[in-house]
Amino acid sequence: MINATTCKHKKLVAWVEEIAQLCTPDNIYWCDGSQEEYDRLCQQMVETGTFIKLNPEKRPGCFLARSNPGDVARVEDRTFICTAKREDAGPTNNWMDPEEMKTILRGHLKGAMRGRTMYVIPFSMGPLGSHIAQIGVEITDSPYVVANMRIMTRMGSKVLDVLGEDGYFVPCIHSVGMPLEPGQKDVAWPCDKDHKYIVHFPEENKIVSYGSGYGGNALLGKKCLALRIASNMAHREGWLAEHMLILGAESPEGETTYVAAAFPSACGKTNFAMLIPPEGFKGWKIWTVGDDIAWIKPGKDGRFYAINPEAGFFGVAPGTSEKSNYNAMASVRANTIFTNVALTDDGDVWWEGMTKEAPAHLIDWQGNDWTPDCGRPAAHPNSRFTAPTAQCPTISPEWDNPAGVPISAFIFGGRVSSNMPLIFQAFNWGHGVYLAATMGSEKTAAAAGKIGEIRRDPYAMLPFCGYNMGDYFDHWLDMGRKNNIPVPIFRVNWFLKKDGQFLWPGFGDNMRVLKWIIDRAHGRGHAVESPIGYMPTYEDIDWTGLDITPEQFDELMTVDKQAWKQELLAQEELFMRLSERLPRELIMERQMLLARLNRSADTFVPPHTK
Ligand code: GTP
Ligand code: SPV
Ligand code: MN
Repeated sequence: MINATTCKHKKLVAWVEEIAQLCTPDNIYWCDGSQEEYDRLCQQMVETGTFIKLNPEKRPGCFLARSNPGDVARVEDRTFICTAKREDAGPTNNWMDPEEMKTILRGHLKGAMRGRTMYVIPFSMGPLGSHIAQIGVEITDSPYVVANMRIMTRMGSKVLDVLGEDGYFVPCIHSVGMPLEPGQKDVAWPCDKDHKYIVHFPEENKIVSYGSGYGGNALLGKKCLALRIASNMAHREGWLAEHMLILGAESPEGETTYVAAAFPSACGKTNFAMLIPPEGFKGWKIWTVGDDIAWIKPGKDGRFYAINPEAGFFGVAPGTSEKSNYNAMASVRANTIFTNVALTDDGDVWWEGMTKEAPAHLIDWQGNDWTPDCGRPAAHPNSRFTAPTAQCPTISPEWDNPAGVPISAFIFGGRVSSNMPLIFQAFNWGHGVYLAATMGSEKTAAAAGKIGEIRRDPYAMLPFCGYNMGDYFDHWLDMGRKNNIPVPIFRVNWFLKKDGQFLWPGFGDNMRVLKWIIDRAHGRGHAVESPIGYMPTYEDIDWTGLDITPEQFDELMTVDKQAWKQELLAQEELFMRLSERLPRELIMERQMLLARLNRSADTFVPPHTK
């Protein structure tokens, strides 16, 4: 049993006591991370109505949670980076003076846990005890957060063992912000409807989250620690904390090539990380290392080594099917928490895209009756599953190797319906940094706000870079210069559309593009030079088993001069915003691109070589 008496870490005990005095919970409970504890909390949540136990024959060990309809995604406009100087947070982050913010937070946290239990969650991002891992302790008044953290991180008393008497930990405070008066009945999903604060103090490595119980707002090891705080650590210490999946592609000859890919939220990381090669790719196998976050450190040999700091998937449910992502479906067959999906009449889950035909009757994500003709989605577009990484059939044998896997290529891809070709390669590192920095993407339901709007999402890190974005670009340029084996950088776009239809089949067929990337990374793939980067010709891609004509390929690869000039014009807005700390190299890259476009034909397509 762990508690304030048995915990040897005096600073931790004192901090827990300090927060308890501020938040005045009814009880304090230290999480040991055991199965018994998890089962007990889940049972308790079933009794309070937070969890619905799913049919044990269909989904053993699985639960469904329905959030408050106002608490369904990350709240970017309520996310703050509090540094002494505003410029250090930069123009892409919300900023407030740290002392001012602490006063506001203290006001909200005072008595915030009244009538509730305060849970203490020691957790490790990265393999326990590894030099690359970071330990955090999250204090929360949400048992839902405890259960999710047990899946998403290495959690419990084993972390305290590693922490010892004076180990370093990142303190993370979370409250749903709904204290209970004596006798007041709790609700299934408590939160503060009017006030939400997701706050980072990168200069002190501290996190405070108030008012939301959902995903990245509340599971503080994920976006708050492993991206916003870790990106600051990485900047200071010379490594990278990125919004990237990591996969290993094993060839029929047994050669495994690891790549890391950054796509914005709900733009296909989980799908790509678990890709099943199409039939023509006999002997090829994809190994999943991670689906959301990569910590990347330069090794002594000058290569980049990446680890996945998480231990679970918090994946987008809608669109996931046996066909689109068999491995994700296999990962969620048991021991999974579903949030905001629909409930079937036989106690299973359903979401849009899971099957071709919707069941005749469901209970939707808000608990109402649902029929296919009712005109509302059954599952929320940002509904998610929380499942242990180890349950993925393609999980890499290297996934929890503390040494990480060597990265041979970086891939960047947004969700863009026109003018951004399927695949091209940066001419060099600096050009690659420019391509990643200027990435645009349509906004998805992963964050609150207007969906579909195109926005700049540099490195897919717009909501997650915890410091000045200009300094971040500079750090990337630096990392390339220091690394003596240059890693090639690629842009992909699975989302080109014509007449409202996707032009590219995507999913498993993305393997065709990945294979060319791997060939290039090993210095053996053929490419031609376009104004925007190196491109494969039709003949450079393996089309076995897919009917795509050279003309269709042209459509996927066209560079339209006027449209690209418009794109450069649109990039100016980002460059202006960041101008105070924008590396000059990126301005030059943009100029060079314009010069190349000016000397090229009105449209460019890779030549047909046969
Ligand atoms: P976060 O967890 O939010 O960071 O996102 P993610 O990048 O892991 O998102 P995920 O892989 O779950 O993407 C979900 C959405 O992308 C679903 O709507 C999928 O159908 C869609 N998607 C994934 N891959 C493809 C693809 O190759 N083509 C198309 N058209 N859609 C895709
Ligand atoms: C994302 O939005 O990029 C996610 C989901 O991975 S959340 O953890 O809620 O941020
Ligand atoms: Mn993500």
